[in-house]
Amino acid sequence: MFSILVLHGPNLNLLGQREPGIYGSLTLEAIDRQLEEAAAVLQVTVSSLQSNHEGFLVDAIHDALEQYHGILINAGAYTHTSIALRDAIAAVALPTVEVHLSNIYRREPFRHHSYIAPVAIGQISGFGADSYRLGLHALVHHLKQLELSTG
Ligand code: DQA
Repeated sequence: MFSILVLHGPNLNLLGQREPGIYGSLTLEAIDRQLEEAAAVLQVTVSSLQSNHEGFLVDAIHDALEQYHGILINAGAYTHTSIALRDAIAAVALPTVEVHLSNIYRREPFRHHSYIAPVAIGQISGFGADSYRLGLHALVHHLKQLELSTG
């Protein structure tokens, strides 16, 4: 059974009340619940962490090495600023899928660049809370393919 670490970056604790026209009305707890339901169907486990602090997220990525098969991450604004998060993902080399609620390419130019994208398997952006579910499916599919190819 695969275990997946779900990381939520800064300001995502305010989902539900934060700019609902952009990010939707679901709370982070509701998104995590949806992910747990999807994980049960996929027969994997998910553990979610949220932090507003870059270093905490870096530590969580390091700690994932011992415990998880893959990472699903919405790094929030750190997506566009954090070389440290990118380096942490590259360092642990765990398969990682990047997700965003909003379509970052339809928004301000400063959101068009992701430091995470080059070290991720792929990115899902713009499907609201469904981005997380789609990202989980993509990650689990990738892990299964990897398992098949490596035996
Ligand atoms: C976000 C997009 C980022 O640009 C923004 O800073 C966020 C949320 C999203 O999920 O759409 O905090 O990652």
